[in-house]
Amino acid sequence: MKYTASSNPLEKTTSGCLVLGFFEKRTLATSAKKLDQALDGLLSDILARNRCSGKPGETLLLNYIPSGSAERILLVGMGRKGKVSARDYSKAVESATKNIRSSGASDSVFALAEIAVTDRSTTWKARQIVEISEDTSYRYTATKSDQPNAGHLSEIQLFVDKKSRVSDLKSGIRQGLAIANGMRLCKDLANLPGNLCTPTYLAEQAVELAEQFPTVSTRILDEEEMEQLGMGSLLSVSMGSRQPAKLIVMEYNKGPKNQQPCVLVGKGLTFDAGGISIKPAAAMDEMKYDMCGGASVFGVMSAVAELELPLNVVGIVPSSENLPDGSANKPGDIVTSMAGKTIEILNTDAEGRLILCDALTYAERYKPELVIDIATLTGACIIALGHQPSGLMGNDDTLCHELEEAGEMAGDKVWRLPIWDEYQDQLKSNFADIANIGGRPAGTITAACFLSRFTEKFRWAHLDIAGTAWRSGKAKGATGRPVPLLAQFLINRLEN
Ligand code: BES
Ligand code: MN
Ligand code: ZN
Repeated sequence: MKYTASSNPLEKTTSGCLVLGFFEKRTLATSAKKLDQALDGLLSDILARNRCSGKPGETLLLNYIPSGSAERILLVGMGRKGKVSARDYSKAVESATKNIRSSGASDSVFALAEIAVTDRSTTWKARQIVEISEDTSYRYTATKSDQPNAGHLSEIQLFVDKKSRVSDLKSGIRQGLAIANGMRLCKDLANLPGNLCTPTYLAEQAVELAEQFPTVSTRILDEEEMEQLGMGSLLSVSMGSRQPAKLIVMEYNKGPKNQQPCVLVGKGLTFDAGGISIKPAAAMDEMKYDMCGGASVFGVMSAVAELELPLNVVGIVPSSENLPDGSANKPGDIVTSMAGKTIEILNTDAEGRLILCDALTYAERYKPELVIDIATLTGACIIALGHQPSGLMGNDDTLCHELEEAGEMAGDKVWRLPIWDEYQDQLKSNFADIANIGGRPAGTITAACFLSRFTEKFRWAHLDIAGTAWRSGKAKGATGRPVPLLAQFLINRLEN
């Protein structure tokens, strides 16, 4: 899709569909009012007839316009005038993008950047339109014979009434496209089935990313190299699999030479059957999504490289399968991590933390400014927080606040859970330094407590994305989260 920005008068702009806002109590937004006058009150008449409420996302498609330069007009409810929240706005844009596609228009003009949104800039509004439009038009195609058609829409022009604001729209479009492209990469990798998306495949994709962006360099560590580094915990998880584990490292260094990098570590479990502590059959297919943390790291690296952010960012994706087999981990087995700590594996299904702990220790070599790990780590996170926010835990309040703020701004929210010392007791083992599970209470927190034992040397935050990385049921598919959150977090680091 092509996105452009303009302040040319709407009356003279031809389009397949012109999108205009209206508020509760049937008040038209500025541009809509102007057009209404030009059309002899047509818009206000139709609004009155249809008893529209103006609630965010309500739409009314006028499929025939007697005069003027727009073939169609889509009226979109924005909520209460002067009180439009970021969420109201996003809802309205989502509904507008879906409706235009079904209207049959091949190009569209959005006059929604003029709507005042509480605490949000023009750039943000442009970015939302691009991100949401790309998100709603995403179609998975990799393994389908019939290539689904996302509609005829091929261009969206963003309109703003002041010429001085056009550059704001343009920077929003640029950011929006980079984030949307990152989300698409994340979704494509995540939606691919486990037989195709193996650790080796993910490693190849990292090499491709480095080809696409010369500013990204990739290094792939194989099992032998991991063995030499002493990654006994990570390697134990892939023992039951015929697919060799990979440690994928992506580096992007466009920041100042002496600046310590932000390191992102993403869980890349390409299929999690649970191992010997095997999972029940129901919905087990969804465990192909157990590499969504890793996929989001790919997505963020892509967005950062596309935006050419002056930052140093390292992405690390430990990747493996977790399957039952004669040489798989058994409950009670004890392995030695790269950090030297011994781990008693009481449940082979708590494998995410086993691969992450060695990747986190590996991150130490970058002397990182901060480390964020992203993982579909615990089913308990869905019980605690549902599918709305990602779980956030960490050892640094400032970093956690920054992530909370970035999540609010990006519409990709997180909710923090405590990782008090009191919880650490649940990880005691009679036979090793630490056990890999802490029992049923506070499962999300004890998983983070496990990771916290390997992150004492740097500022660290952990995102549990078990509830947010994909949708189940009829709309089954990856969401691309938390790419928007992390991209926003990194962009904010430049502005502060
Ligand atoms: N990948 C799963 C977590 C998961 C489960 C995410 C379902 C989303 C939906 C993880 O490897 C796992 O199996 N965790 C166990 C931990 C338990 C054994 C302590 C879980 O959540 O049941
Ligand atoms: Mn598991
Ligand atoms: Zn898992």
